[in-house]
Amino acid sequence: VGQNLVSLKEVDSTNNYLKDMLSNSKPVPEGTVIMAETQFAGRGQQNNVWHAQPGKNLTFSLLLKPSFISPQQQFDLTRAISLGVYDALYPLLRDRLKIKWPNDIYFGDRKLGGMLIENMIQGGQIKSSVIGIGINVNQDNFPVESGAPVSIRQILQRDYELQQILSQICSHIEGWYLKLKAGNLTFIREKYLACLYRLNEEHLFRSNNQVFTGEITGATVIGQLVVLSNGEEKLYNLKEIEFLNKDK
Ligand code: BTN
Repeated sequence: VGQNLVSLKEVDSTNNYLKDMLSNSKPVPEGTVIMAETQFAGRGQQNNVWHAQPGKNLTFSLLLKPSFISPQQQFDLTRAISLGVYDALYPLLRDRLKIKWPNDIYFGDRKLGGMLIENMIQGGQIKSSVIGIGINVNQDNFPVESGAPVSIRQILQRDYELQQILSQICSHIEGWYLKLKAGNLTFIREKYLACLYRLNEEHLFRSNNQVFTGEITGATVIGQLVVLSNGEEKLYNLKEIEFLNKDK
């Protein structure tokens, strides 16, 4: 991962750029990475916009071809990628680093990064997976309306080389991707759970316009969040549940 690297000054979104490359006839090798200094239409999950100060943060997309897993197993790919990012940042950030379900990267209660995974499914197989990753590295302030994200610079009080963090992330993603390929699913699922933000802690949630306290007890094989509330475990898909805290 990352051997074939395309560095762009400016692009709408590296995910879009990579998807355009795929729809042109020339084959794109697995592991290709597109990185951009500036995205003028960076995309987040659930149709959100992804903002980053030009040149300060990591914004890139990488191409994988996980045809060995079925579309029903997509969440194991999400887990593997999240763990790759987590392991790459762990030496810098240690135990306050967490994966917030489904695939946000958190430091304490603040968002440090996120990913947008777009899988192209054809003939019952994942033909290609465009994995867009944004990590706040050197940004020194964030617009008020963006919630309360955080950057590595704000945490550690120094700038970091984007290339260096990129190459760490690529090599750890590769490691977890190979575990996925080898079918080490139990290991991947256990490790994902061990890194999960607010696992087994009381937290305020909202679902269906109802606010309730509950405790995350796990995630199902296909990636639904399992929340225990009032002695009952319930499953939630993305969009069905919201974490309520001031930093959402
Ligand atoms: C999220 O947390 O909502 C996901 C953010 C994903 C942002 C990255 S930046 C590189 C890639 N290109 C995009 O347009 N989005 C992803």
